[in-house]
Amino acid sequence: MGLTAWQALFDHGKLTAGQRVLINGAGGAVGGHAVQLAKSTRSCVVATAGPRSAEAVKSAGADEIIDHTTTSVTSEVTEPVDMVLNLAPVDPAELAALVTLVRPGGVLVNTTVWMPAPSDEERGVRGIDLFVRSDADQLAHLVELVDREELRVAVAERVPLAELPALHAHASEGAVHGKAIVVPLTA
Ligand SMILES: NC(=O)c1ccc[n+]([C@@H]2O[C@H](COP(=O)([O-])OP(=O)(O)OC[C@H]3O[C@@H](n4cnc5c(N)ncnc54)[C@H](OP(=O)(O)O)[C@@H]3O)[C@@H](O)[C@H]2O)c1
Repeated sequence: MGLTAWQALFDHGKLTAGQRVLINGAGGAVGGHAVQLAKSTRSCVVATAGPRSAEAVKSAGADEIIDHTTTSVTSEVTEPVDMVLNLAPVDPAELAALVTLVRPGGVLVNTTVWMPAPSDEERGVRGIDLFVRSDADQLAHLVELVDREELRVAVAERVPLAELPALHAHASEGAVHGKAIVVPLTA
């Protein structure tokens, strides 16, 4: 989750200090990391979150939160952004609409790669499909940030291995917010 957020923001999005980024679908595990990491660059973060996630996204540091369950993000964002990071399972038309929010020369990075990231060549807005890759150095850096308490990982719950089926059932209902740690049996 941390690697996906890092690579989206910095490897692909080239986010730099003071830029403005829209994180669509910030309420999930990748979003929690992305909001914190973007804020660490002193960027302005606009984030979408539903009622169940809004508090977590706010505490991650988002400057502005748009409730995607009651409003349309494309009508709420009135000032162009340098980057859109899409983490939400929107449909292709909604993804295309997000491109219109990006300033000329900006970028849209998409993680929901079952549909290709749209571009706007006339305005020089690039759409990038992100495929996370393993990177030991980046992972070590993220661990350092966690150790220094500069990056928080949302742990929803710790469950014994024997309760894994129930955990899957809860997760499929969308009832697990954040990451669950499965604790193996100890001798
Ligand atoms: N390509 C890659 O290499 C790669 C790697 C990792 C993850 N991913 C993908 O990246 C996405 C994010 O991962 P994740 O683990 O953070 O997923 P997640 O925990 O499911 O979070 C996605 C969030 O999107 C929000 N959402 C749902 N419908 C929305 C809508 N219509 N508009 C705006 N927000 C909406 C939900 O938040 P609310 O609670 O606010 O409703 C949900 O928490 C997933 O699709 C995952 O498959 C791709």
